[in-house]
Amino acid sequence: MIEQEFIPLVDLRAQYQTIKSEILAALSDTLERMDLFLGENVRLFEQEFAEYCGTRHCIGVGSGTDALILALQACGVGPGDEVITVANTFIATVEAIHAIGATPILVDVDADTGTMDPQQLEARITRKTRAIVPVHLYGRLADLPSIMEIARRHSLLVVEDACQAHGASDGQRRAGSFGDVGCFSFYISKNLGAYGEAGAVVTDNPEIAQRVNLLRNHGSQSKYHHVTLATNSRLDELQAAVLRVKLRYLDQWNEQRRAHAATYKRLLDGLGLDLPSIPSQPSHVFHLYVVRSDRRDDLREGLQAAGVATGLHYPVPVHLQPAWFAHGYETISLPVTETLAREVLSLPLYPEMTPGQIERVCTAVRQVLASPRRHESRVEAGGLAAEQDLHPRTL
Ligand SMILES: Cc1ncc(COP(=O)(O)O)c(C=O)c1O
Repeated sequence: MIEQEFIPLVDLRAQYQTIKSEILAALSDTLERMDLFLGENVRLFEQEFAEYCGTRHCIGVGSGTDALILALQACGVGPGDEVITVANTFIATVEAIHAIGATPILVDVDADTGTMDPQQLEARITRKTRAIVPVHLYGRLADLPSIMEIARRHSLLVVEDACQAHGASDGQRRAGSFGDVGCFSFYISKNLGAYGEAGAVVTDNPEIAQRVNLLRNHGSQSKYHHVTLATNSRLDELQAAVLRVKLRYLDQWNEQRRAHAATYKRLLDGLGLDLPSIPSQPSHVFHLYVVRSDRRDDLREGLQAAGVATGLHYPVPVHLQPAWFAHGYETISLPVTETLAREVLSLPLYPEMTPGQIERVCTAVRQVLASPRRHESRVEAGGLAAEQDLHPRTL
């Protein structure tokens, strides 16, 4: 019997092989110069990424989580303030709000897009609300026109969590440039991923930019002179060297992701799965290809048996995570978010995927759906799901 190759959710080695010589040259050059502290790569990456996003400023920081924390702090959000966001996200979005002493207020999401439902927003605005943090989930732009309109009417700040949406655009502007501030993660498997931890804050506002700049570097304007209490969250010079190489490929990789998503849609249509729509503008850059099914757990098990990795983004919504029990969040009802947690399934998607691999995934999906039901779908990821998520931060 011929052993079939395992299809991973994401294949970082395949991407590395296509850019290896450029990456090694960039790292070698940096090491030869020993310019390792907020050096030329950080400075140039900040310029290049600001230009890419269409903002006046970019400040490189240590991670996407830090980008959110420092952006909120730089906007003056803090204890006593409420910040409205979603529970259908990676926990860092909500963690960052908590970390600065503000109170996260969680609203439900739109059933089609999984992103913040603007209709839920207005009812949750109080006198304490300072900011809104929409999340561009899976690479799809949240409904920024509606969210910005509500925010402006109530004089609220908008901090975009663009950690999954590098390059997503409505045809005129890119993710990160709609609100007051945009926050990016360059976690290894993002559409623009470093080879370690990294993140960035982008903004048009020079005061916010200057504050993030201070906050990421011990509040220091010149060496050993500290004007504000802050932290160390500088973008690492070697990661900036990697990011400068990869940024040149981002649009091409995003196009490949969109082409693969279109192939999935063609091959999976008519099987009863809920497939993500593919907007004509690149407002969805498919960080993840997430389908919905009431047979999600059957699919996950069957695909694993067929040698195809899958992911759950996310198996437990933020408000139902034990980490938040002490805050009483488990009593909040977010029906759409909770249904999504039972039904979502991420299929393999990365720019270097071959048509043959996509075909194999789809054949396996068809086979599972043609077989009798084995599992009831559930929110809690038990047995199989928990085992497969041994390295949950791979995505
Ligand atoms: C939506 C979202 N927000 C925030 C983060 C946090 O980014 P990082 O892992 O770089 O801290 C991530 C990264 O996984 C994310 O997906």
